[in-house]
Amino acid sequence: MTTENTGNTGAGLLSGLGGQSPVEAANVVRSDRLEGRVALITGGGNGIGAGVARRLAEGGARLVLADIDDAAGEKLADELDATYVHCDVSRPEDNEAAVATAVERYGRLDLVFLNAGITSGCGLGEDFDIRRYRLAMGVNLDGVVFGAHAAIPALLAAGGGTIVATASMAGIVGIPSDPIYAANKHAVVGLVRSLGQDLQPRGIRVQGLCPSFADTAILGEGRETLQQLGFPILEVSAVVETFVQLLDSEGTGECWFVIPGRESQPFSFRRAPGPRV
Ligand SMILES: NC(=O)c1ccc[n+]([C@@H]2O[C@H](COP(=O)([O-])OP(=O)(O)OC[C@H]3O[C@@H](n4cnc5c(N)ncnc54)[C@H](O)[C@@H]3O)[C@@H](O)[C@H]2O)c1
Repeated sequence: MTTENTGNTGAGLLSGLGGQSPVEAANVVRSDRLEGRVALITGGGNGIGAGVARRLAEGGARLVLADIDDAAGEKLADELDATYVHCDVSRPEDNEAAVATAVERYGRLDLVFLNAGITSGCGLGEDFDIRRYRLAMGVNLDGVVFGAHAAIPALLAAGGGTIVATASMAGIVGIPSDPIYAANKHAVVGLVRSLGQDLQPRGIRVQGLCPSFADTAILGEGRETLQQLGFPILEVSAVVETFVQLLDSEGTGECWFVIPGRESQPFSFRRAPGPRV
């Protein structure tokens, strides 16, 4: 892995604080300009990833679906005339191979949706399970880091592009039932906010998608609990709609919430206190 432009020097840390130059409009991917665009979607076999895949395919984009659920991924790829690759996002080499497939098969890469995710299934008390912890961090955080790292050269070669990472409302508020999930989703939010600024001058936008509970398999048994509590659950279509809004937005480094009954928009983080001199 290269560390171009990401050295952990003081200068690197401070480089985003002096204001940003505008995103170059070189290769901005908009929802009404999808024809001929090439997108890679991780976790593209099911749920939110599959919903976004269908929407992008309708718009004429060429798709690479990356997942570990081969049966679901291959079925959807057949349906959408897309390409399926087996890709465990927690493995850097799988991310590199997925990007290479997009470029070899379709000649370019314009849009990357880093969306694969799992819950941890354990807490930090007696139920702590280091294997589950590493797995959840590996998929939810490493998967976004490795996916972005693999995709950046291909996006630059296309003249810029868009990265969207699925975080969660769990990246904005605490989740007592799964602190490890909240920790890696908060990390994705921090990554999006930082990488958005870092890559802005090079024509790559980075946006975050932060849904509340949505009706997919990830809810597992929690779905029933939510229903008993009367907590509204999002349809996948609502998340897809926000994904489209986010593509058509001007911003970068934003984290868009998706909450039942509310208009989706970037979450407004409170301004942090600066130094007093
Ligand atoms: N559904 C929700 O309530 C909700 C809310 C907020 C955020 N999210 C996030 O949305 C994203 C998509 O989840 P979903 O709700 O569509 O659930 P889902 O379970 O339907 O889809 C997740 C997909 O990720 C794939 N996946 C799991 N591990 C993988 C790995 N190692 N490599 C590649 N693919 C892998 C699964 O096979 C599946 O296709 C996740 O990041 C999740 O954390 C979901």
